[in-house]
Amino acid sequence: MQKFNVYNPTQIIFGEGRIAELAEHIAADARVMVLYGGGSAERNGTLVEVKNALGARHVQMFAGIEPNPSYETLSKAVDIVRADKIDFLLAVGGGSVIDGTKFVAAAALFEGDTWSILQQGGTNIKQALPMGTVLTLPATGSEMNNGGVVTRLATKTKLPFHSNLVFPQFSILDPTKTYTLPARQVANGVVDAYVHVMEQYLTYPVNALVQDRFAEGLLQTLIEIGEQAVQEADNYNVRANLMWTATLALNGLIGAGVPQDWSTHLLGHELTAQYGLDHAQTLAIILPNMLQLRRKEKHAKLLQYAQRVWNITDGNDEQRIDAAIAKTREFFEAVGVRTRLSDYQLGEECIEPVLAQLQAHGMLQLGEHQDVTPEQCRTVLHMSL
Ligand code: NZQ
Ligand code: ZN
Repeated sequence: MQKFNVYNPTQIIFGEGRIAELAEHIAADARVMVLYGGGSAERNGTLVEVKNALGARHVQMFAGIEPNPSYETLSKAVDIVRADKIDFLLAVGGGSVIDGTKFVAAAALFEGDTWSILQQGGTNIKQALPMGTVLTLPATGSEMNNGGVVTRLATKTKLPFHSNLVFPQFSILDPTKTYTLPARQVANGVVDAYVHVMEQYLTYPVNALVQDRFAEGLLQTLIEIGEQAVQEADNYNVRANLMWTATLALNGLIGAGVPQDWSTHLLGHELTAQYGLDHAQTLAIILPNMLQLRRKEKHAKLLQYAQRVWNITDGNDEQRIDAAIAKTREFFEAVGVRTRLSDYQLGEECIEPVLAQLQAHGMLQLGEHQDVTPEQCRTVLHMSL
């Protein structure tokens, strides 16, 4: 096992009806900005519950954080936070709203060009406003981690940032708030969480026994409940398990002391920025082919994955690996996320622009061995047509 630090200060407040407890977690004299998306939180009643729970506090509402939150929109929130002397941020929504709020938290107190936060991956964040979240979409794990992803629309640049200063202080996870999700977003959540586990698990063995078993348990849970979660909108137990699984998939625990890949994510970000595909759609397209292309480097873990996650024991090593990759693709398709570029009306012409952006963003050495080059990404995209 490699050296590691685990730091996670986010308190999780899990279960039905817990939004009512909001006031216990925010100072009575706080000046609060509530940030949300395109209106789903308003329509399904979450926002009213939040407002009621905040009581007499000074509350400023900021609506309109879009999926794949834009730097342009978030900069407007930063201006209001500064002008209105807001001192606490509350994100109500999915990963995009939470990521966007993390950026606002850091940018509001940042001196200089706030885009440099993204250019430097968050390493230049010196302080941030405190924030909390009310999660409405199980997927990203942003509710319990220190990362965010922001897109600059003007240049089609989608970049991640990390800082321990943007961990939410608390996150309220009420599974009933997911009941209004469209099937497409639930499916996206299942696939995103699955790929988060894979990017931390499917590399090479480092004798991290519990991280491996934990990761395999998360994958098997997603396989067990994934289709049901998409089909049964108001099944509390299924939604509760999905919510907690997605949080655990990217809160630092399974990634502690193990090599991490993230090539599928970083290539996927370029596809979203260029062509507007949902985050999880890009992952479903790329992951099976990334595993296929790098099956030599990932050989030992692919065999472990085949046996322990999919119970594949027949055939020789190569046949088992093929079967495990095929199962992975079938699972994504079964929950309803298509796995080919052509399923999204994208053909060969989409590849070079994505490659150009990848190179422009300095993504030249991806993966757990830093050996996934733009050349290999091009091959993966060709395999994905
Ligand atoms: O905008 P509203 O109206 O709220 O609608 C949203 C949005 O259209 C809707 N929605 C959310 N909760 C709902 C709901 N609709 C009905 N009922 C509800 N309860 O769902 C749509 C998608 O929301 P979004 O927040 O964009 O989805 P998701 O949670 O999948 O977040 C995706 C973003 O997270 C980033 C992605 O790159 C992408 O920008 N990621 C963040 C990570 C992190 N911080 O650790 C890691 C991930 O790998 C990912 O990159
Ligand atoms: Zn993701």
